[in-house]
Amino acid sequence: MDNQALVIFGASGDLTYRKLMPSVFDLYMNNSLPDGYAVLGVSRSKFTDSEFRKKMKEGIKEFSHFKNAGAEKINHFLKKVFYISIDTQKSEDYELVKSKLRELNKKLDLRHNYIFYLSTPPQLYPVIPKYLYGQGLTLQQKGFRRIIIEKPFGHDLKSAMELNKSLTDFFSEEQIYRIDHYLGKETVQNLLVTRFSNGIFEPLWNRNYVQHVEITASESIGVEGRGGYYETAGAMRDMVQNHLLQVASLVAMEPPAKVTSEEIRHEKLKVFRSLRPLNEEDLRNNVIRGQYTESHVKGKYLTGYRDEEGVDKNSRTETYFAMKFFIDNWRWSGVPFYIRSGKRLPTRVSEIVIHFKPSPTQLFKSVDGAIEAGNQLILRIQPDEGILLKTGMKVPGNGYEVKSVNVDFHYSDLKDHYIPEAYERLILDCMTGDNTLYMSGEGAELTWRFVQPILDYWESDPDAPLYGYPSGSWGPDSADKLIEGAQTWRYPCKN
Ligand code: BG6
Repeated sequence: MDNQALVIFGASGDLTYRKLMPSVFDLYMNNSLPDGYAVLGVSRSKFTDSEFRKKMKEGIKEFSHFKNAGAEKINHFLKKVFYISIDTQKSEDYELVKSKLRELNKKLDLRHNYIFYLSTPPQLYPVIPKYLYGQGLTLQQKGFRRIIIEKPFGHDLKSAMELNKSLTDFFSEEQIYRIDHYLGKETVQNLLVTRFSNGIFEPLWNRNYVQHVEITASESIGVEGRGGYYETAGAMRDMVQNHLLQVASLVAMEPPAKVTSEEIRHEKLKVFRSLRPLNEEDLRNNVIRGQYTESHVKGKYLTGYRDEEGVDKNSRTETYFAMKFFIDNWRWSGVPFYIRSGKRLPTRVSEIVIHFKPSPTQLFKSVDGAIEAGNQLILRIQPDEGILLKTGMKVPGNGYEVKSVNVDFHYSDLKDHYIPEAYERLILDCMTGDNTLYMSGEGAELTWRFVQPILDYWESDPDAPLYGYPSGSWGPDSADKLIEGAQTWRYPCKN
């Protein structure tokens, strides 16, 4: 890998402390960093290098996979971590970024290769590139220049298009890395490997054998002090437009011609282009939103969303979102996709469930009804990462009763490996110039285009339903009615 500097804007923030710096340290511990590297933190707060290092050390000790690496290792890594304070709204302050990089470049032989990581409030996303450009820092004359943009990538279709425009005014598409941390998750990447390295799944992975597909991201936590931000987002913007539609595209895409960023992005875009636009009936019947209300769970009182700090007492922001949609292409025609995500649900779990059609005739009776419903392949994204296949087996003894049993693989069984933090993988990929696991500009716009009618409907119709659901429950009952036939969502807590 080339020598280089990672310049983090918003370095005094929580993301740098909890995720970014611990992930860069993990890369260091795995010998994945080049000899000549530097991390330059940039923020408004005043720190000296040593104060900043001290703070980062605490974050590493709490959040790194190698938290027990010992002071010597951590200090050695931190020797190449630096800090400058600027006002990111002032163009002249970027001279300091330039001169600091010049200095570090000489000292550490960085070969003019810089990554700019924007971990700032989104209002600064159009500002920072402009001022970096003003200092000539975006031009790839001597070394490479890349920019990583954190979510949210826009607030709706219009703002996402404007953001794309303001970035591409100063960086080319190949230089832009739009982060979706779900794509950095090991198990999400394993989806491609499961599908395209095993002969047995792909022949069945289509409308002939799949009844429906379910994608869930449930969280047991509430908004955890992020009420102010969440009020401007809601579950659909926060989790579905980005993370879950990205996951859906990996479930649904065709095999790429090669494992290259270009080919994989191309196949994902084809999925997004095939999303059936939502019509009025879909908006009324196939989209459900909910908001958690106060309740007691196991004797513990949980506040309702409207009582959270920073939340309007009459807020209509959804903390739960579920929808049914279709992908109108050759492979998936007629197969419903169901997506749901919510806060304050009974457990934290993200998973994909492929529900296969039942066998054409039922020779046997099952004791639990599971076989009549069809086999399920469950790809557990987190926690307890792994793959589970639910299949029918004979109950020992007389007769031919069938019972559903689990063929179960847990990643934790692979003792020699640890599951890296999504940010570790994503930062490494950007350092090596691989944008496969990052969103393309067109992908971001297509997903916003798909969900925009939902936002318009909620905004324009004051009677658009918003269901309350008690904290600790699986969301509004009406979400169950989305699923066609006699089936329900899979409830990971129960089975
Ligand atoms: C973030 C959302 O993008 O993803 C959060 O803003 C959410 O609200 C988080 O809690 C979930 O990520 P993970 O990796 O814990 O599933």
